[in-house]
Amino acid sequence: MENRNKIITTLNSKRIEIEGENAFMPLANYLRGNECLTGTKVVCAEGDCGACTVLLARDIGPDGKLNFKAVNSCIIPLYLIDGAQVVTVEGLKKSDTELHPVQNAMVDCHGAQCGYCTPGFICSMAALTEDAKTENVAITEKKAKNYLTGNLCRCTGYKPIIEAAMSIDLSKTELLKDRFHNPQWLSEMKKIKSTPLLMTFNQKTIYLPVNLEDALIAKNKNPDLRLIAGSTDLGVVINKGKLSTPKAMALYHIEELKKITHDDLEMTVGATATFSEFEYYVEKLNPELKKILHIFASPQIKNQGTLVGNVVNASPIADTIPFLMAQDAKVVLKSINGERTVLMSDFYTGYKTLNILPDEIVVALKIPHSKKEENLKLFKVSIRKDLDISAVTFAGVMEVELGKIKKANFALGGIAATVVRMKSIEAGIVGASFTRKTFEDIAMNIPNLISPLSDVRASKEYRLKLAQNFFLKFYDEVSKENNL
Ligand SMILES: Cc1cc2nc3c(=O)[nH]c(=O)nc-3n(C[C@H](O)[C@H](O)[C@H](O)COP(=O)(O)OP(=O)(O)OC[C@H]3O[C@@H](n4cnc5c(N)ncnc54)[C@H](O)[C@@H]3O)c2cc1C
Ligand code: FES
Ligand code: FES
Repeated sequence: MENRNKIITTLNSKRIEIEGENAFMPLANYLRGNECLTGTKVVCAEGDCGACTVLLARDIGPDGKLNFKAVNSCIIPLYLIDGAQVVTVEGLKKSDTELHPVQNAMVDCHGAQCGYCTPGFICSMAALTEDAKTENVAITEKKAKNYLTGNLCRCTGYKPIIEAAMSIDLSKTELLKDRFHNPQWLSEMKKIKSTPLLMTFNQKTIYLPVNLEDALIAKNKNPDLRLIAGSTDLGVVINKGKLSTPKAMALYHIEELKKITHDDLEMTVGATATFSEFEYYVEKLNPELKKILHIFASPQIKNQGTLVGNVVNASPIADTIPFLMAQDAKVVLKSINGERTVLMSDFYTGYKTLNILPDEIVVALKIPHSKKEENLKLFKVSIRKDLDISAVTFAGVMEVELGKIKKANFALGGIAATVVRMKSIEAGIVGASFTRKTFEDIAMNIPNLISPLSDVRASKEYRLKLAQNFFLKFYDEVSKENNL
């Protein structure tokens, strides 16, 4: 199949083609520098403040319309918007004399002072109205705060902004997916996604294959081809100048890798499924996991970042790894030589080093369901509840039968170079009585088992105390819920 050598995308209502070096620049820089769409601001350039928020529709929903989500344009390279549609704060107004209801609400409720954060808030609120209207639910204070977790304001104060969000009259709001519905563009989008893209400029390369076979061949021929999923980790590292733009391959045009499915035994999460899609999927399937995903990052990051990216990024404080380890999840790796699966607890060989061969790609994660008789508990402690990096994380899976511990799986994050499965604790308590004393003994022994570091986020002593307390909290919650 012949490759394309230019990105084709739509910006507000304008179809654009991007060639050459521009393909590798962050979307925010392109909007401001090349399209004069300076409403989009850049403050932190690392996904934290939300000033650069825009709406991005990569997929067509079941209703045949575009599915707009808020994302941080400062960390998204342009090659991740091929075949997608972007709407910026400028594109929200209906005409030069008619603002979007969100924009009116911000004016009426005095939601801006210096105005620097305002376009980002407006785009996040537009995403909120899009979802609330589609789901036919009211915008409550809680819902507004959840959607605005990823936007920081340093001068207005949040009260008028939240009031603005709650004052939006959904009956007068036209959905963006209706306003920007363009059957001609939708059919072109499908064509774009079925033609591979290959662009090179000096040392930079981006390849967007449209089937897995081509992706595996490319990785075999060029083992240094770096996989890029949502760019919420890589984009930050590149913006900070700690990594030059790598030769990259992104898999989001490969339909089979987007899927999340489950059968009686396990859930399979494809390599490019986003956190938002995963969180939605597990809402009923695994409420404990949903609780942790709810406080993971911000909506913008979850709309872009992937579970597989979190696993391969291999941070010792990644929020999902303790759960995946304790749940005995498996990483599914593919190369042209075939497929193999690796248990999460065998996937990390040291700080950011992995059990993965140079020609392999992670295609999915397989996560066994919790059994009815098992108790799953996931804890995260960070300085702030929302949008903050963990100090220590914990996952525990336990089965108790007739007062005795039948199965115990524990994983701790933030206490070593990798997330660690606490196998010596597990081996020591299987068969023991399920009593507080058993867990107090574990807590007492923790300083002999782990030796966390002190850093800006937490001291060694604090991390030890948290790890000890997590085991007591685990006992207290499980015993209370099960009347044990
Ligand atoms: C503001 C902000 C808040 C955050 N909050 C949290 C948080 O609360 N908790 C948390 O755990 N993390 C958090 N993160 C980190 C980040 O969002 C996650 O780690 C996310 O899951 C990364 O996914 P991604 O798709 O963006 O990965 P990318 O940045 O695209 O890639 C990450 C790594 O995975 C590799 N990779 C991607 N796909 C594949 C594949 N198919 N095969 C092999 N390798 C692959 C890449 O080469 C790279 O090394 C935050 C980040 C930001 C910027
Ligand atoms: S500029 Fe702060 S999130 Fe993008
Ligand atoms: S209005 Fe000034 S930062 Fe929000």
